[in-house]
Amino acid sequence: MFILAIETSCDETSAAVVKDGSEVLSNVISSQIEFHKKYGGIVPEVAARKHIEVVSPVIKEALEQAKALLKDIDAVAVTYGPGLVGSLLVGLCAAKAIAWSLDKPLIGVNHLEGHIYANFLNSPPSSPSLNKRGGNPNEVREGVSFPFTCLLVSGGHTMIMLVEDHGKYKTLGRTRDDAAGEAFDKVARFLGLGYPGGPIIDKLAKEGNPKAVKFTRPMPDGYDFSFSGIKTGVVNYVSNTPHPIPHTPDIVASFQQAVIDVLVEKTIRAAKEYNCKDVALAGGVSANSELRTQLLTRCGAEGLTAHIPPFEYCTDNAAMIACAAYYQHASHPIPHPSSLALSPIASLKL
Ligand code: KG4
Ligand code: ZN
Repeated sequence: MFILAIETSCDETSAAVVKDGSEVLSNVISSQIEFHKKYGGIVPEVAARKHIEVVSPVIKEALEQAKALLKDIDAVAVTYGPGLVGSLLVGLCAAKAIAWSLDKPLIGVNHLEGHIYANFLNSPPSSPSLNKRGGNPNEVREGVSFPFTCLLVSGGHTMIMLVEDHGKYKTLGRTRDDAAGEAFDKVARFLGLGYPGGPIIDKLAKEGNPKAVKFTRPMPDGYDFSFSGIKTGVVNYVSNTPHPIPHTPDIVASFQQAVIDVLVEKTIRAAKEYNCKDVALAGGVSANSELRTQLLTRCGAEGLTAHIPPFEYCTDNAAMIACAAYYQHASHPIPHPSSLALSPIASLKL
């Protein structure tokens, strides 16, 4: 099954062609970061306009790279939330037009679900429910197995999910204030390092000492998170320290380590409490090199298996949307396409 997917929830215009939910034939991403950098964050109106300019060429490029024609496409998948409503609308309109003109199903995908399914790209999950439907278990390569705990960390969300099967999610905890990615972006902005902060801090932290400054590690009850305190800790530290201010790499390395400690600790605790052998990482912050390394190491030490998406599928991309759409479609006995009346939902929940 060939799925053409479109993702425009934020500031990346992406289109992908994915075969059978895991084989990525193309994954084209056009980033708008250069346009938003000067404002220190995303300007929603600019984002929507930029999507309009590039959505068609990006889709064309995705088909060309996949050596596919529109007539080869079996279904069109699209992110319909959560995200910026104007941005979502552009992808939805493009997807609806293509699905309608080809008379093929339109599959609306939750962006957060897409991030989780990035773990299944190039590695189909070993799922009892799919095997039951006649799939050959011998063809299924080792992948993440249900039930698993997923740490979903992006610019807008930070959640720990229990994923019991396809489409069966339980939210165990979420951030009570800033998302982890948002904290990276805000700290970088405060330190004058640029936008987006995550990749900049990731790089700069390699030159610093993560033990140089002892920022607090907030641990709200259960599996909830709180990152605004760590962010304020950085602001207070810099404002209250006599000049010259300490080495910036030390500050960002210490900040990053505080965030990672909390994320890893709670994820492992959740995996154990819910008897999950597998742990998956998802969302833009899963591109963080230290988080990837430390989660893998800690999971290994605790007898858990950590699954981390390939780097290119961590931040927003359409391949992950195609993957989620494939399993959404496959797990309905009767194909269950979205209606062409599908609307964007800015605060869509999982
Ligand atoms: O998933 P994503 O691309 O978009 C949303 O759905 O929000 O995540 C973007 C977030 C941004 O906050 C960005 O700073 C963060 O992911 N990010 C990182 C890294 N790469 C991107 N955070 C930490 N380290 C990174 N290497
Ligand atoms: Zn995202």
